[in-house]
Amino acid sequence: MAGIYIHIPFCKQACYYCNFHFSTTKNYKILIKSIQDEIYLKKKFLNKEKIESIYFGGGTPSLIKSEYIKQIIKTLKAHFKIKNNCEITFEANPDDINNQKLKIWKKLGINRLSIGIQTFDNAILKSMNRSHNSLLAKKALKKIKTQFNNYSIDLIYGAPKSTIKTLKKDLKIIKDINPPHVSIYNMTIEKNTVFYNLKKLGKLKFPNISSVLKQYQIIHKSMIELKYINYEISNFSKNNFISIHNSNYWKSKKYIGFGPSAHSYDLKYRYWNVSNNQKYINEINKKKLPEKKEKLSKNNIINEHIMTRLRTIWGLNLKEIKEKFQIDLYSIKKNELNLFKKEKHIEIKNNTIILNKKGKIISDYITEKIML
Ligand SMILES: C[S@@+](CC[C@H](N)C(=O)[O-])C[C@H]1O[C@@H](n2cnc3c(N)ncnc32)[C@H](O)[C@@H]1O
Repeated sequence: MAGIYIHIPFCKQACYYCNFHFSTTKNYKILIKSIQDEIYLKKKFLNKEKIESIYFGGGTPSLIKSEYIKQIIKTLKAHFKIKNNCEITFEANPDDINNQKLKIWKKLGINRLSIGIQTFDNAILKSMNRSHNSLLAKKALKKIKTQFNNYSIDLIYGAPKSTIKTLKKDLKIIKDINPPHVSIYNMTIEKNTVFYNLKKLGKLKFPNISSVLKQYQIIHKSMIELKYINYEISNFSKNNFISIHNSNYWKSKKYIGFGPSAHSYDLKYRYWNVSNNQKYINEINKKKLPEKKEKLSKNNIINEHIMTRLRTIWGLNLKEIKEKFQIDLYSIKKNELNLFKKEKHIEIKNNTIILNKKGKIISDYITEKIML
């Protein structure tokens, strides 16, 4: 089983925190044609392995005509073995949603939507340069609920201007809407973004670290009370709505990416496409793959395994590590593991290391200490 990722590199406008690859130009047609050509060029990549998830991310896939999405799905079906009940996720923004589009997306086979909301606070949305407001988001979600039972909401916490009060307001709205899946990310300040430059100039105030930690604790507590499963640090789902695509990344399954900046992984190599639309189109026109690749060393693979497994509810199984990589991680990292255990950051049950609530907050630090 494997997954497919399609990167649609267009946005209406730039969000001040985002450094994912996108362009605000509108040469959609030629780029979609190149994505179809790339699918053809890479049709042997997964050797007819069955595809159990397809993810349209961006950028903003909901910005382009549904006809283009239809063409991509048709090309994928022609060259890959897609499982019957394949999870097909589509990222959409509130300002692109109407009943007609929802109907068309459903007809194309899309069975899961991921909605970029970020917050329901209008002042924060404005400071992020989002193109929707809270009312529009609520209206879009109402429409989505009538046609899709599987959808997810993206939220960000720890953003400039965010407070415990704005967070609690967001969580109250989540309670009322009761979505089957929510991804709640801690705002990271990425290079080449407006927020990064403002922060460097000292012109942007961020909530301090203790407020951000408190925000995560409140999120965790409220979401568990609302009966969500915290199956990965930033991901919460109701029973039966765990995302297959996301989970496969954390279970280190193979995936193939199409479109500028998309990544692929085949257990031995990591591949990444050029993050520039025109360069991508030019290479594809020459029938060349616009990618770079890196062979993963044994340590790279073990560290990746540690990092991804630790983030999840399933945890890091020491016996699996021993069988797969012939190393005894517990003996190698005995001091670190015992310290984290003593400090109640991790639990070790049935030979499996699992982060507890305290550990999730400093997960990056713990991962770094346990990696080889
Ligand atoms: C690449 S975005 C695209 C989704 C959608 N087009 C949108 O505009 O929201 C996917 C998600 O990544 C998250 N994200 C992007 N940049 C982030 C940052 N700097 N910190 C935290 N989360 C971020 C947001 O929650 C966003 O919904």
